[in-house]
Amino acid sequence: MNPLSGKRIVLGLTGGIACYKSAELLRRLMDLGATVDVVMTASASEFITPLTFQALSGRPVFTDLWDSRPDNNMAHINLTRSADLIVVAPATANFMTKLAHGSADDLLSTLCLARAIPLMIAPAMNKEMWQARPTQRNANQLRDDGVILVGPASGIQACGETGDGRMVEPNDLLAAIVSHFEPKIMAGLNVLITAGPTCEPIDPVRVLTNRSSGKTGYAIAQAAAQAGARVTLVSGPTSLPCPVDVTRIDVQTALQMHECVMSMVAGYDIFIAVAAVADWRIDNPSSEKLKKNDGLSPPDLSFVLNPDILAGVAAMPNAPWCVGFAAETTLNPDEVERKRQRKGVPLLIGNLAQEVMDVDHTTVELYSASGRQVLERGSKQWVARQIVAEIAKRFTQQ
Ligand code: C5P
Repeated sequence: MNPLSGKRIVLGLTGGIACYKSAELLRRLMDLGATVDVVMTASASEFITPLTFQALSGRPVFTDLWDSRPDNNMAHINLTRSADLIVVAPATANFMTKLAHGSADDLLSTLCLARAIPLMIAPAMNKEMWQARPTQRNANQLRDDGVILVGPASGIQACGETGDGRMVEPNDLLAAIVSHFEPKIMAGLNVLITAGPTCEPIDPVRVLTNRSSGKTGYAIAQAAAQAGARVTLVSGPTSLPCPVDVTRIDVQTALQMHECVMSMVAGYDIFIAVAAVADWRIDNPSSEKLKKNDGLSPPDLSFVLNPDILAGVAAMPNAPWCVGFAAETTLNPDEVERKRQRKGVPLLIGNLAQEVMDVDHTTVELYSASGRQVLERGSKQWVARQIVAEIAKRFTQQ
């Protein structure tokens, strides 16, 4: 099930160089199941052609207030009547001024004024324009009027200057749109999540690690944030971007992850241990690079057990509601249930190791005192949303 299935979105573009980002946004919205009608101002059409958006969306693109295609010649009304959300990206300083003052002199501004649905805008402009007092006044006015502002982001701008004003990346805007529609089943909850592998040093250049990508943990963090939770992600080394509206703390080793979690877990309502924590670390890693020793015997490494973070948290007085994972090459329900009881957690999620590593689709099974439940197979994002829904339900029923 896609998060935007059945949703209709009007994507408005105004005249900024960031228009190219909206072509990617359109594709991503469609990938998630949305039906998108694109409306462009005359200036937007100077930056990128309506044909591009028509080809990408497979639907007519609207640029003209006097377009006779929609019923009754009422494009300014009809386009939003069956829609769920208008997203204006990029939104220029000039368009923000028009919105803030209720001006309606072209199709997009008229649609926004005549709408009965929420409006989200992604401002995009030069940093001085963004900081200018009129723009800031308009931004505040729009927030007061209930318009959802996403960004702007900071960084190098098309003009060569650096500062606030860039349009947020398509991925971040997509997350804000999904979040807008997601039921807030975790509103008010503080959720702590571990994710990714850990890296245990052998010497300054060599580590012992595993093949966890961190994707499942990151997808759960994103889904929990979109469900309204305040989420902190303690992550081992991954190449993934931090999920939107999530606070990430980076660690390398199991001991660092353990120390980090233990120092902050009080005050969290839910703890979800997704990290593939190394079971062992090297006893006394060398401070100098180990020599190959000219082909003589390999180094004699000895291991010590790492602390079990999940079991440690679950055993705390006033422990948060704990969820663990068990990735096994064969899933034996009795063994997984025994592991759940050994760890002392109300919910343990079993998955096949070969189904989580290096793949984007997965299947998981939930183990709890009430038995075993298999969730619908799908992308890690879809499975993460199902997991978050189950956790929210079980947490409130406890
Ligand atoms: O015992 P096993 O490693 O199979 O348990 C997996 C679960 O325990 C996962 O939720 C994992 O994040 C957590 N774990 C942990 N600390 C460890 C080992 C595993 O939190 N040292």
